[in-house]
Amino acid sequence: MSDVEGFESGAADAAERIRNAGSALVIAHIDADGITAASIASIALQREGIDHEVKFIKKLDPPMLQSVLDEKYDVLWFVDLGSGMYSKMDERCIVADHHRPDSMERERHVNPHLYGIDGSSEVSGSGVTYAISVAMNANNKDLSALAIVGAVGDFQESAHSRLTGYNHKIVEDAVEYAGMTAEVDIRTFGKQTKPLPILFQYSTDPKLIDYITDQIDDRESCIRFFTELGIDLNETVYWTQLDRVEKAKIVSALVNRMIDRGRGVTDVKKLLGEIYTIPENTVGTPENWIMHLPEDMRISARVLFDAKEFATLLNACGRHELPEVGMEVCKGDRSEYLMKALNQQNGHRESLKTAIELVKLGEENGIREEVSGVSLHNIRFFHGGKKIKDTILGIITGMLLNSPEVQCSDKPLIAFADSSDGSNTLKVSGRGTKEMVDHGLDLSLAMIKSSKECGGTGGGHNIAAGASVPYGKENEFLLKLDRLIGQQINGE
Ligand code: C5P
Ligand code: C5P
Ligand code: ZN
Repeated sequence: MSDVEGFESGAADAAERIRNAGSALVIAHIDADGITAASIASIALQREGIDHEVKFIKKLDPPMLQSVLDEKYDVLWFVDLGSGMYSKMDERCIVADHHRPDSMERERHVNPHLYGIDGSSEVSGSGVTYAISVAMNANNKDLSALAIVGAVGDFQESAHSRLTGYNHKIVEDAVEYAGMTAEVDIRTFGKQTKPLPILFQYSTDPKLIDYITDQIDDRESCIRFFTELGIDLNETVYWTQLDRVEKAKIVSALVNRMIDRGRGVTDVKKLLGEIYTIPENTVGTPENWIMHLPEDMRISARVLFDAKEFATLLNACGRHELPEVGMEVCKGDRSEYLMKALNQQNGHRESLKTAIELVKLGEENGIREEVSGVSLHNIRFFHGGKKIKDTILGIITGMLLNSPEVQCSDKPLIAFADSSDGSNTLKVSGRGTKEMVDHGLDLSLAMIKSSKECGGTGGGHNIAAGASVPYGKENEFLLKLDRLIGQQINGE
């Protein structure tokens, strides 16, 4: 089914066109996948000596496309976006994307969907850009680790707890050419940067504290958990300092507790995964950079060693108007831009926490199952209004859908927020699960159709999609979406 050879030959054709250009504009999305894609493209162009600029955009709608088409470059290289508007583009456009395409045309259009490859799990926007860049010059294989950061930034490892399909081919390149390691380890977020008791106290997927706490003091319970296993917390501060024997001891203790509680099967499955660790020195970085940082920054800079933490750092930049800062870090900056990026992290974390609490609080921002007295059967939704920033809406929708406390993972979750671009539209985000997709859910298709009928636009993936709809149209949009998703899942 999946035609990897065809995909790579499409990438080679695009590469040839780009190599022959005198100048190029790279147009990219502002999230981790878009920023890594833009960085890969920019380094590849630099290495070919092609003059270029990079432009980051929040979404590609008709006015934005027109403004890009007005630019005077030989090539307009769209990365991690563009496929939804491909049919409106001109001869100078080259698309490297993994979103649902509006056309199956393969000319100047590289997208896994055109070759039977799954665009939500097997290759991301940065992976497609990587395939083109390697076809431009095999020396670009050292950019593979960036494509891994992009793929995990888009949650492409989440279904199987490891990257699969074309992504795994990139993993193999990254191990060979970028010094990355890919090893089975605990999936908990923060292994490079959080002290062990904190790592376990706040882990969410799975929520380890439930298996550790004595209900009186969570932190003390975590400390005791480690010391009882013979781990000296003065000596070993971070997970990455543990040896394999110690890790195995901790994991087996956790698994035993999960089994004892009798409800641990899904959590046991989620505990381990393939973890991608990036070396200190990668493309463009100065030697020994970590020792040249101010001492108080050395720990937080270790986010760059873990693909998932690196991706979060990039989102903290891109989702808060600083995608260029993230790109400079991807291209090797380990001073001024890295400092700026690290300083973004706390604000990003806080804004996610505040938004989640707002929805959990219920009231006007809470999760609902009816619109104007009409019950929705197949979806739930919440409205962030002006209180939730449109650029983080998708992230928090995914976090809420998968949150054990909220318990809403049986139906797709749809979210609204006022668009921050002054366009009088609402930003919509939708998230589903792999189980729903296995039952027929295609959120992208449902969003495209429903938004179009309401005078808006939409796109994305079967499992995660988004849209823009005019103000006041949310009820009509929800009812249409509910009906379409019912048809997809139940054949209603
Ligand atoms: O625009 P883009 O393709 O980067 O967006 C992908 C989004 O899809 C990610 O932000 C992620 O939240 C979501 N996703 C998901 N589960 C998957 C794949 C993607 O939630 N299995
Ligand atoms: O913004 P959010 O993270 O919810 O987006 C989910 C997916 O839907 C992303 O892949 C994004 O590129 C896509 N999307 C889209 N058109 C929109 C909004 C989002 O294609 N208007
Ligand atoms: Zn992407």
